[in-house]
Amino acid sequence: MSYKIVNVVGARPNFMKIAPLMAAYRRTTDFEPLLVHTGQHYDEKMSDLFFRQLGIPEPDTNLGVGSGSHAQQTAQIMVGFEEVIREHQPDAVLVVGDVNSTIACGLVAVKRGVKLIHVEAGLRSRDRSMPEEINRLLTDAISDLLFCTEQSGVDNLIQEGVDADRVFLVGNLMIDTLLANVDRAKASTVLDDLGLEEDRYAVLTLHRPSNVDDPSAMARILDALEVIQAELSVVCPMHPRTRKNIEAFGLTSRLEAMPGIRLIDPVGYLDFLKLMSSARLVLSDSGGIQEETTILGVPCLTLRENTERPVTLDRRGNRLVGNDKGAIVGAYQDVRDLPKDGVDPPPMWDGKAADRIVEVLQSHLLEPAAVRA
Ligand code: UD1
Ligand code: UDP
Repeated sequence: MSYKIVNVVGARPNFMKIAPLMAAYRRTTDFEPLLVHTGQHYDEKMSDLFFRQLGIPEPDTNLGVGSGSHAQQTAQIMVGFEEVIREHQPDAVLVVGDVNSTIACGLVAVKRGVKLIHVEAGLRSRDRSMPEEINRLLTDAISDLLFCTEQSGVDNLIQEGVDADRVFLVGNLMIDTLLANVDRAKASTVLDDLGLEEDRYAVLTLHRPSNVDDPSAMARILDALEVIQAELSVVCPMHPRTRKNIEAFGLTSRLEAMPGIRLIDPVGYLDFLKLMSSARLVLSDSGGIQEETTILGVPCLTLRENTERPVTLDRRGNRLVGNDKGAIVGAYQDVRDLPKDGVDPPPMWDGKAADRIVEVLQSHLLEPAAVRA
Protein backbone atom coordinates (compact mmCIF):
# COMPACT_ATOMS: atom_id res chain seq x y z
CA MET A 1 0.00 0.00 0.00
CA SER A 2 1.48 3.36 -0.93
CA TYR A 3 2.14 6.08 1.60
CA LYS A 4 -0.33 8.94 1.36
CA ILE A 5 1.13 12.46 1.54
CA VAL A 6 -1.01 15.58 1.33
CA ASN A 7 1.05 18.41 -0.19
CA VAL A 8 0.02 22.00 0.41
CA VAL A 9 0.29 25.09 -1.78
CA GLY A 10 -1.35 28.47 -1.31
CA ALA A 11 0.67 31.42 -2.58
CA ARG A 12 2.72 32.18 -5.71
CA PRO A 13 6.18 31.10 -4.43
CA ASN A 14 4.77 27.74 -3.33
CA PHE A 15 3.99 26.70 -6.89
CA MET A 16 7.61 26.72 -8.09
CA LYS A 17 8.55 24.64 -5.06
CA ILE A 18 5.87 21.97 -5.39
CA ALA A 19 6.18 21.45 -9.17
CA PRO A 20 9.42 19.38 -9.15
CA LEU A 21 8.33 17.47 -6.05
CA MET A 22 5.03 16.35 -7.60
CA ALA A 23 7.03 15.16 -10.61
CA ALA A 24 9.55 13.33 -8.40
CA TYR A 25 6.85 11.44 -6.49
CA ARG A 26 5.56 10.17 -9.83
CA ARG A 27 8.94 8.59 -10.57
CA THR A 28 8.25 6.02 -7.79
CA THR A 29 5.17 4.03 -6.85
CA ASP A 30 5.85 4.36 -3.14
CA PHE A 31 3.72 7.44 -2.57
CA GLU A 32 0.18 8.53 -3.15
CA PRO A 33 0.67 12.32 -3.37
CA LEU A 34 -2.42 14.49 -3.04
CA LEU A 35 -2.30 18.24 -3.70
CA VAL A 36 -4.29 20.81 -1.75
CA HIS A 37 -4.47 24.45 -2.83
CA THR A 38 -5.65 26.66 0.01
CA GLY A 39 -6.66 29.44 -2.39
CA GLN A 40 -4.57 32.04 -0.51
CA HIS A 41 -3.63 33.38 -3.95
CA TYR A 42 -6.39 33.10 -6.51
CA ASP A 43 -5.95 35.61 -9.38
CA GLU A 44 -5.26 33.84 -12.67
CA LYS A 45 -1.85 35.58 -12.84
CA MET A 46 -0.98 34.70 -9.23
CA SER A 47 -2.07 31.05 -9.40
CA ASP A 48 -3.55 29.09 -12.35
CA LEU A 49 -0.97 30.39 -14.82
CA PHE A 50 1.77 28.64 -12.82
CA PHE A 51 -0.10 25.34 -12.73
CA ARG A 52 -0.31 25.37 -16.52
CA GLN A 53 3.25 26.56 -17.19
CA LEU A 54 4.91 24.26 -14.67
CA GLY A 55 2.73 21.20 -15.34
CA ILE A 56 1.51 21.01 -11.75
CA PRO A 57 -1.35 18.52 -11.44
CA GLU A 58 -4.82 19.92 -10.81
CA PRO A 59 -5.27 20.17 -7.01
CA ASP A 60 -7.35 17.39 -5.47
CA THR A 61 -8.96 20.09 -3.33
CA ASN A 62 -9.03 23.87 -3.46
CA LEU A 63 -10.12 25.38 -0.14
CA GLY A 64 -10.81 28.71 -1.83
CA VAL A 65 -10.06 30.79 1.26
CA GLY A 66 -8.99 33.98 -0.52
CA SER A 67 -7.73 37.11 1.21
CA GLY A 68 -8.34 38.43 4.70
CA SER A 69 -6.56 39.48 7.87
CA HIS A 70 -3.90 37.07 9.12
CA ALA A 71 -6.33 35.65 11.67
CA GLN A 72 -9.16 35.25 9.19
CA GLN A 73 -7.02 33.70 6.49
CA THR A 74 -5.15 31.35 8.84
CA ALA A 75 -8.32 30.29 10.63
CA GLN A 76 -10.23 29.62 7.41
CA ILE A 77 -7.40 27.53 6.02
CA MET A 78 -7.30 25.53 9.27
CA VAL A 79 -11.02 24.81 9.25
CA GLY A 80 -10.97 23.80 5.58
CA PHE A 81 -7.81 21.73 5.89
CA GLU A 82 -9.12 19.79 8.89
CA GLU A 83 -11.87 18.45 6.63
CA VAL A 84 -9.25 17.37 4.09
CA ILE A 85 -7.38 15.45 6.78
CA ARG A 86 -10.59 13.90 8.03
CA GLU A 87 -11.59 12.82 4.53
CA HIS A 88 -8.24 11.55 3.23
CA GLN A 89 -6.59 10.27 6.44
CA PRO A 90 -3.06 10.89 5.08
CA ASP A 91 0.10 9.39 6.55
CA ALA A 92 1.90 12.75 6.28
CA VAL A 93 1.40 16.39 5.32
CA LEU A 94 4.11 18.28 3.45
CA VAL A 95 4.24 22.08 3.55
CA VAL A 96 6.68 24.40 1.78
CA GLY A 97 7.97 27.89 2.50
CA ASP A 98 6.72 30.38 5.04
CA VAL A 99 3.29 31.68 4.06
CA ASN A 100 0.11 31.58 6.13
CA SER A 101 -0.96 28.39 4.33
CA THR A 102 2.26 26.73 5.57
CA ILE A 103 1.67 27.21 9.30
CA ALA A 104 -2.12 26.83 9.09
CA CYS A 105 -1.94 23.38 7.48
CA GLY A 106 1.05 22.35 9.57
CA LEU A 107 -0.80 23.09 12.79
CA VAL A 108 -3.87 21.15 11.70
CA ALA A 109 -1.74 18.15 10.70
CA VAL A 110 0.12 17.79 13.99
CA LYS A 111 -3.00 18.39 16.09
CA ARG A 112 -4.59 15.45 14.26
CA GLY A 113 -1.53 13.28 14.85
CA VAL A 114 -0.33 13.36 11.23
CA LYS A 115 3.42 13.57 10.52
CA LEU A 116 4.53 16.98 9.28
CA ILE A 117 7.27 17.60 6.73
CA HIS A 118 8.59 21.13 6.15
CA VAL A 119 10.51 21.98 3.01
CA GLU A 120 12.63 25.15 3.22
CA ALA A 121 13.06 24.76 6.97
CA GLY A 122 15.43 26.67 9.23
CA LEU A 123 15.63 29.97 7.34
CA ARG A 124 15.71 32.88 9.80
CA SER A 125 15.70 36.62 9.20
CA ARG A 126 15.70 37.24 13.00
CA ASP A 127 13.06 39.87 12.30
CA ARG A 128 9.88 38.95 14.12
CA SER A 129 7.98 41.85 12.60
CA MET A 130 7.87 39.76 9.41
CA PRO A 131 4.82 37.51 9.32
CA GLU A 132 6.92 34.93 7.48
CA GLU A 133 9.46 34.72 10.33
CA ILE A 134 6.67 33.77 12.74
CA ASN A 135 5.39 31.19 10.24
CA ARG A 136 8.90 29.77 9.83
CA LEU A 137 9.63 29.50 13.56
CA LEU A 138 6.30 27.89 14.38
CA THR A 139 6.26 25.46 11.46
CA ASP A 140 9.78 24.26 12.22
CA ALA A 141 8.92 23.82 15.90
CA ILE A 142 6.18 21.28 15.08
CA SER A 143 7.68 19.48 12.06
CA ASP A 144 8.90 15.88 12.11
CA LEU A 145 11.18 16.05 9.07
CA LEU A 146 12.88 19.30 8.09
CA PHE A 147 14.44 19.87 4.67
CA CYS A 148 16.88 22.78 4.29
CA THR A 149 18.03 24.71 1.23
CA GLU A 150 21.23 26.07 2.76
CA GLN A 151 23.62 25.32 5.62
CA SER A 152 22.39 28.31 7.67
CA GLY A 153 19.01 26.57 7.90
CA VAL A 154 20.59 23.42 9.31
CA ASP A 155 22.67 25.45 11.78
CA ASN A 156 19.65 27.46 12.97
CA LEU A 157 17.59 24.35 13.59
CA ILE A 158 20.35 22.61 15.51
CA GLN A 159 20.85 25.74 17.65
CA GLU A 160 17.11 25.74 18.35
CA GLY A 161 17.38 22.18 19.65
CA VAL A 162 16.01 20.16 16.73
CA ASP A 163 17.51 16.64 16.53
CA ALA A 164 20.11 16.53 13.78
CA ASP A 165 18.70 13.22 12.50
CA ARG A 166 15.48 14.94 11.45
CA VAL A 167 17.23 17.73 9.50
CA PHE A 168 18.38 17.27 5.88
CA LEU A 169 20.29 19.62 3.61
CA VAL A 170 18.86 18.76 0.18
CA GLY A 171 19.20 21.86 -2.01
CA ASN A 172 16.52 24.11 -3.35
CA LEU A 173 13.29 23.13 -5.10
CA MET A 174 12.93 26.64 -6.50
CA ILE A 175 16.25 26.14 -8.27
CA ASP A 176 15.13 22.72 -9.55
CA THR A 177 12.32 24.61 -11.29
CA LEU A 178 14.61 27.36 -12.53
CA LEU A 179 17.12 24.94 -14.07
CA ALA A 180 14.35 22.88 -15.64
CA ASN A 181 12.84 25.94 -17.31
CA VAL A 182 15.69 28.29 -18.13
CA ASP A 183 15.98 27.05 -21.72
CA ARG A 184 12.22 27.10 -22.25
CA ALA A 185 12.14 30.68 -20.99
CA LYS A 186 14.53 31.76 -23.75
CA ALA A 187 11.62 31.43 -26.18
CA SER A 188 9.55 34.00 -24.27
CA THR A 189 8.72 37.08 -26.34
CA VAL A 190 8.34 39.28 -23.28
CA LEU A 191 11.23 41.62 -24.13
CA ASP A 192 9.80 42.38 -27.58
CA ASP A 193 6.29 42.62 -26.18
CA LEU A 194 7.46 45.29 -23.70
CA GLY A 195 9.93 46.99 -26.04
CA LEU A 196 12.90 46.15 -23.79
CA GLU A 197 16.47 45.50 -24.90
CA GLU A 198 18.63 42.75 -23.46
CA ASP A 199 20.77 44.08 -20.59
CA ARG A 200 19.35 47.61 -20.83
CA TYR A 201 16.68 47.57 -18.16
CA ALA A 202 16.09 46.67 -14.51
CA VAL A 203 13.33 44.50 -13.03
CA LEU A 204 11.57 45.61 -9.87
CA THR A 205 9.23 43.62 -7.63
CA LEU A 206 7.81 44.77 -4.31
CA HIS A 207 5.32 43.19 -1.95
CA ARG A 208 6.72 43.10 1.61
CA PRO A 209 4.38 44.84 4.05
CA SER A 210 7.42 46.69 5.51
CA ASN A 211 7.80 48.40 2.12
CA VAL A 212 4.36 48.55 0.58
CA ASP A 213 2.02 48.93 3.57
CA ASP A 214 3.93 51.98 4.81
CA PRO A 215 3.41 55.17 2.78
CA SER A 216 6.71 56.71 3.90
CA ALA A 217 8.73 53.60 2.95
CA MET A 218 6.92 53.49 -0.38
CA ALA A 219 7.71 57.17 -0.98
CA ARG A 220 11.43 56.63 -0.21
CA ILE A 221 11.57 53.79 -2.73
CA LEU A 222 9.88 56.00 -5.33
CA ASP A 223 12.48 58.71 -4.64
CA ALA A 224 15.21 56.20 -5.53
CA LEU A 225 13.34 54.94 -8.58
CA GLU A 226 13.00 58.47 -9.86
CA VAL A 227 16.80 58.65 -10.11
CA ILE A 228 17.31 55.14 -11.51
CA GLN A 229 14.61 55.27 -14.20
CA ALA A 230 16.14 58.46 -15.60
CA GLU A 231 19.04 56.35 -16.90
CA LEU A 232 17.78 52.76 -17.01
CA SER A 233 14.29 51.51 -17.89
CA VAL A 234 12.60 49.76 -14.99
CA VAL A 235 9.90 47.14 -15.55
CA CYS A 236 7.73 46.34 -12.57
CA PRO A 237 5.30 43.41 -12.55
CA MET A 238 3.08 44.61 -9.73
CA HIS A 239 1.95 42.33 -6.94
CA PRO A 240 -1.77 42.90 -6.19
CA ARG A 241 -0.98 44.08 -2.63
CA THR A 242 1.35 46.72 -4.05
CA ARG A 243 -1.02 47.90 -6.76
CA LYS A 244 -3.79 48.35 -4.22
CA ASN A 245 -1.58 50.27 -1.81
CA ILE A 246 -0.08 52.55 -4.44
CA GLU A 247 -3.59 53.53 -5.39
CA ALA A 248 -4.69 53.89 -1.76
CA PHE A 249 -1.68 56.11 -0.92
CA GLY A 250 -2.37 58.34 -3.94
CA LEU A 251 1.03 57.51 -5.49
CA THR A 252 -0.21 56.36 -8.90
CA SER A 253 0.19 59.72 -10.61
CA ARG A 254 3.71 60.09 -9.26
CA LEU A 255 4.70 56.75 -10.75
CA GLU A 256 2.97 57.50 -14.03
CA ALA A 257 4.99 60.68 -14.27
CA MET A 258 8.23 58.64 -14.43
CA PRO A 259 8.72 57.83 -18.12
CA GLY A 260 11.33 55.14 -17.47
CA ILE A 261 9.03 52.94 -15.37
CA ARG A 262 6.73 50.30 -16.88
CA LEU A 263 4.09 49.06 -14.46
CA ILE A 264 2.63 45.77 -15.63
CA ASP A 265 0.50 42.96 -14.19
CA PRO A 266 2.30 40.04 -12.56
CA VAL A 267 3.74 37.85 -15.30
CA GLY A 268 3.95 34.09 -15.68
CA TYR A 269 7.00 32.14 -14.60
CA LEU A 270 8.61 31.79 -18.03
CA ASP A 271 8.26 35.47 -18.87
CA PHE A 272 9.57 36.42 -15.44
CA LEU A 273 12.55 34.12 -15.81
CA LYS A 274 13.31 35.69 -19.18
CA LEU A 275 12.91 39.20 -17.70
CA MET A 276 15.30 38.42 -14.84
CA SER A 277 17.91 36.62 -16.96
CA SER A 278 18.13 39.42 -19.49
CA ALA A 279 18.09 42.30 -16.99
CA ARG A 280 21.04 44.50 -16.05
CA LEU A 281 19.96 44.16 -12.43
CA VAL A 282 17.00 43.26 -10.26
CA LEU A 283 15.56 45.29 -7.38
CA SER A 284 13.25 43.29 -5.14
CA ASP A 285 12.06 42.51 -1.65
CA SER A 286 11.12 38.94 -2.60
CA GLY A 287 12.54 35.90 -0.85
CA GLY A 288 12.75 33.58 -3.84
CA ILE A 289 14.08 36.15 -6.28
CA GLN A 290 17.25 36.54 -4.17
CA GLU A 291 17.89 32.85 -4.82
CA GLU A 292 17.01 32.88 -8.49
CA THR A 293 19.26 35.87 -9.29
CA THR A 294 22.09 34.12 -7.44
CA ILE A 295 21.89 31.26 -9.93
CA LEU A 296 21.29 33.50 -12.95
CA GLY A 297 24.31 35.66 -12.08
CA VAL A 298 22.24 38.85 -12.20
CA PRO A 299 22.99 41.48 -9.53
CA CYS A 300 20.13 41.78 -7.02
CA LEU A 301 19.51 44.74 -4.74
CA THR A 302 17.30 43.47 -1.95
CA LEU A 303 15.15 46.27 -0.59
CA ARG A 304 15.15 44.89 2.94
CA GLU A 305 17.25 45.28 6.10
CA ASN A 306 17.74 41.53 6.54
CA THR A 307 17.49 38.23 4.73
CA GLU A 308 16.65 34.71 5.83
CA ARG A 309 18.76 33.51 2.87
CA PRO A 310 22.32 34.55 3.85
CA VAL A 311 23.93 32.16 1.36
CA THR A 312 22.86 34.59 -1.38
CA LEU A 313 24.91 37.35 0.29
CA ASP A 314 28.04 35.19 0.39
CA ARG A 315 27.88 35.07 -3.40
CA ARG A 316 28.59 38.38 -5.10
CA GLY A 317 25.10 38.81 -6.47
CA ASN A 318 22.80 39.87 -3.63
CA ARG A 319 23.07 43.02 -1.52
CA LEU A 320 20.83 44.19 1.30
CA VAL A 321 20.06 47.84 0.71
CA GLY A 322 16.91 48.56 2.75
CA ASN A 323 14.50 51.19 1.55
CA ASP A 324 16.45 54.42 1.99
CA LYS A 325 16.86 56.48 -1.19
CA GLY A 326 20.60 57.12 -0.79
CA ALA A 327 21.37 53.46 -0.05
CA ILE A 328 19.37 52.20 -3.03
CA VAL A 329 20.84 54.68 -5.49
CA GLY A 330 24.38 54.16 -4.15
CA ALA A 331 24.10 50.38 -4.50
CA TYR A 332 22.61 50.76 -7.96
CA GLN A 333 25.60 52.86 -9.02
CA ASP A 334 27.95 50.20 -7.62
CA VAL A 335 26.41 47.29 -9.49
CA ARG A 336 25.04 48.77 -12.72
CA ASP A 337 28.23 48.08 -14.67
CA LEU A 338 29.21 44.78 -13.08
CA PRO A 339 29.75 41.91 -15.52
CA LYS A 340 27.01 39.29 -15.30
CA ASP A 341 29.18 36.22 -14.81
CA GLY A 342 30.92 34.24 -12.13
CA VAL A 343 27.93 32.29 -10.86
CA ASP A 344 28.93 30.30 -7.78
CA PRO A 345 25.98 28.05 -6.91
CA PRO A 346 25.45 27.22 -3.24
CA PRO A 347 25.94 23.53 -2.40
CA MET A 348 23.28 21.26 -3.92
CA TRP A 349 21.48 24.00 -5.87
CA ASP A 350 21.84 21.67 -8.83
CA GLY A 351 18.31 20.76 -9.88
CA LYS A 352 18.15 17.54 -7.85
CA ALA A 353 16.54 18.70 -4.60
CA ALA A 354 13.21 16.98 -5.32
CA ASP A 355 14.89 13.62 -5.90
CA ARG A 356 16.86 14.00 -2.67
CA ILE A 357 13.68 14.79 -0.73
CA VAL A 358 11.88 11.76 -2.14
CA GLU A 359 14.86 9.54 -1.24
CA VAL A 360 14.81 10.77 2.36
CA LEU A 361 11.05 10.25 2.55
CA GLN A 362 11.50 6.70 1.27
CA SER A 363 14.22 5.89 3.77
CA HIS A 364 12.60 7.60 6.77
CA LEU A 365 8.88 7.10 6.34
CA LEU A 366 8.36 3.77 4.60
CA GLU A 367 8.53 0.37 6.25
CA PRO A 368 11.89 -1.16 5.25
CA ALA A 369 10.12 -3.94 3.30
CA ALA A 370 8.19 -1.37 1.28
CA VAL A 371 11.25 0.60 0.21
CA ARG A 372 11.97 -0.02 -3.43
CA ALA A 373 15.46 -0.62 -4.67
C1 UD1 B 1 1.93 36.32 0.70
C2 UD1 B 1 2.82 35.76 1.80
C3 UD1 B 1 4.24 36.23 1.59
C4 UD1 B 1 4.73 35.89 0.21
C5 UD1 B 1 3.76 36.41 -0.83
C6 UD1 B 1 4.19 35.93 -2.19
C7 UD1 B 1 1.81 35.49 4.02
C8 UD1 B 1 1.68 36.04 5.38
N1 UD1 B 1 2.39 36.26 3.11
O1 UD1 B 1 1.93 37.73 0.81
O2 UD1 B 1 5.09 35.59 2.52
O3 UD1 B 1 6.00 36.44 0.01
O4 UD1 B 1 2.45 35.92 -0.57
O5 UD1 B 1 3.61 36.63 -3.22
O6 UD1 B 1 1.41 34.37 3.80
N2 UD1 B 1 -4.40 39.63 -3.58
C9 UD1 B 1 -5.10 39.67 -4.77
N3 UD1 B 1 -5.11 38.53 -5.52
C10 UD1 B 1 -4.49 37.39 -5.16
C11 UD1 B 1 -3.80 37.36 -3.95
C12 UD1 B 1 -3.75 38.49 -3.17
O7 UD1 B 1 -5.68 40.68 -5.14
O8 UD1 B 1 -4.54 36.39 -5.93
C13 UD1 B 1 -4.34 40.88 -2.77
C14 UD1 B 1 -5.44 40.98 -1.71
O9 UD1 B 1 -5.80 42.32 -1.59
C15 UD1 B 1 -4.72 40.56 -0.44
C16 UD1 B 1 -3.31 41.05 -0.68
O10 UD1 B 1 -3.08 40.90 -2.08
O11 UD1 B 1 -5.30 41.11 0.69
C17 UD1 B 1 -2.27 40.27 0.10
O12 UD1 B 1 -2.37 38.86 -0.14
P1 UD1 B 1 -1.87 37.82 0.99
O13 UD1 B 1 -1.91 36.42 0.46
O14 UD1 B 1 -2.58 38.05 2.28
O15 UD1 B 1 -0.40 38.25 1.24
P2 UD1 B 1 0.75 38.59 0.21
O16 UD1 B 1 1.15 40.00 0.39
O17 UD1 B 1 0.37 38.10 -1.13
N1 UDP C 1 7.51 35.59 -10.11
C1 UDP C 1 6.77 35.41 -11.28
N2 UDP C 1 6.14 36.48 -11.83
C2 UDP C 1 6.20 37.73 -11.29
C3 UDP C 1 6.96 37.90 -10.10
C4 UDP C 1 7.59 36.81 -9.53
O1 UDP C 1 6.71 34.29 -11.81
O2 UDP C 1 5.58 38.66 -11.84
C5 UDP C 1 8.14 34.40 -9.48
C6 UDP C 1 9.62 34.50 -9.19
O3 UDP C 1 10.40 34.11 -10.29
C7 UDP C 1 9.75 33.50 -8.04
C8 UDP C 1 8.46 33.68 -7.27
O4 UDP C 1 7.55 34.27 -8.21
O5 UDP C 1 9.82 32.17 -8.54
C9 UDP C 1 8.65 34.57 -6.09
O6 UDP C 1 7.43 34.86 -5.52
P1 UDP C 1 7.17 36.13 -4.59
O7 UDP C 1 8.22 37.15 -4.83
O8 UDP C 1 5.75 36.49 -4.78
O9 UDP C 1 7.28 35.50 -3.13
P2 UDP C 1 8.47 35.32 -2.08
O10 UDP C 1 9.53 34.49 -2.70
O11 UDP C 1 8.91 36.68 -1.65
O12 UDP C 1 7.80 34.63 -0.92
